[in-house]
Amino acid sequence: MSKVVLITGGSSGIGKSIGELLLEKGFIVYGTSRSPQNYPNSNFPILALDLTESNTIKSCIEKVIEKENRLDVLINNAGKGITGPIEEIPEIEIKRNFDTNFFGAIQVIKSVLPQMRKQRSGLIINVTSIAAYMGLPYRGIYSASKGALELITEAFRMEIKDFNIFMTNVAPGDFSTNIASGRYHAPVLENSPYKIPYGNSLNLMNQHVNSGSDPILMANVIYKIIQTGKPKVHYKVGSFMQKFSIVLKRILPDKIFEKLLLKFYKL
Ligand SMILES: NC(=O)c1ccc[n+]([C@@H]2O[C@H](COP(=O)([O-])OP(=O)(O)OC[C@H]3O[C@@H](n4cnc5c(N)ncnc54)[C@H](OP(=O)(O)O)[C@@H]3O)[C@@H](O)[C@H]2O)c1
Repeated sequence: MSKVVLITGGSSGIGKSIGELLLEKGFIVYGTSRSPQNYPNSNFPILALDLTESNTIKSCIEKVIEKENRLDVLINNAGKGITGPIEEIPEIEIKRNFDTNFFGAIQVIKSVLPQMRKQRSGLIINVTSIAAYMGLPYRGIYSASKGALELITEAFRMEIKDFNIFMTNVAPGDFSTNIASGRYHAPVLENSPYKIPYGNSLNLMNQHVNSGSDPILMANVIYKIIQTGKPKVHYKVGSFMQKFSIVLKRILPDKIFEKLLLKFYKL
């Protein structure tokens, strides 16, 4: 029997790539978007879901279960970037980012668990970020919202293990997608004390995403994880240096690691 997979944010980038690969491999795939009407030619159905509006989360999951009678894999992929000097990012944007990357993602998990418990099986894959492993300058809010999702996954795994439901994190490095254009960028203000370092960091961040890897790499890893049955707690997908930065953070004294980050971001 084909497994039923729901991918939040299946309309572009990593989510779309995962959906297309899983479809090719014989899965029944559903994706989501805030504007499903914009994707009439998607190879798999795109349902309406906005992570900041809980009623849409509930109705999206109800639709999949009503149609398929089961849900085997949730890929909690939808997410949003945010950049800026923390001091200058409006409160409402900080909250919106957490509503999307953290609270919304938790609500999707909570909405699929009753069905997975009922069928006594399920796999939940949370797409986080390598930025979740360290507080990155001018990306502090993003690091924090994705870092919070990493930690919640660790806790959740232990709470749901008796129901034969598995959960894991997959942290991408830089991938060439629409993430930079969909990000909230705090404006580089003329009179800001952060104008020069933030402006330079923003340029670097955009270059990194533009020269990022092909999202198909993420799709291949997700496919392998689904095939393993019992996933690890964490996966990292990216260049050697991006993955190695997590190892360095673990083994180096904090101040040395901070110096490396400052050098890398030319701060
Ligand atoms: N690309 C990278 O370098 C990179 C690195 C680390 C982590 N990630 C993470 O990977 C995931 C996928 O990102 P991507 O790179 O593929 O970016 P993307 O091309 O911009 O795709 C983002 C997806 O999330 C959906 N989305 C955004 N805000 C949403 C909201 N409020 N409610 C529901 N859906 C929402 C978008 O759907 P609609 O706009 O159609 O609603 C879109 O399908 C994200 O969680 C991102 O943080 C990406």
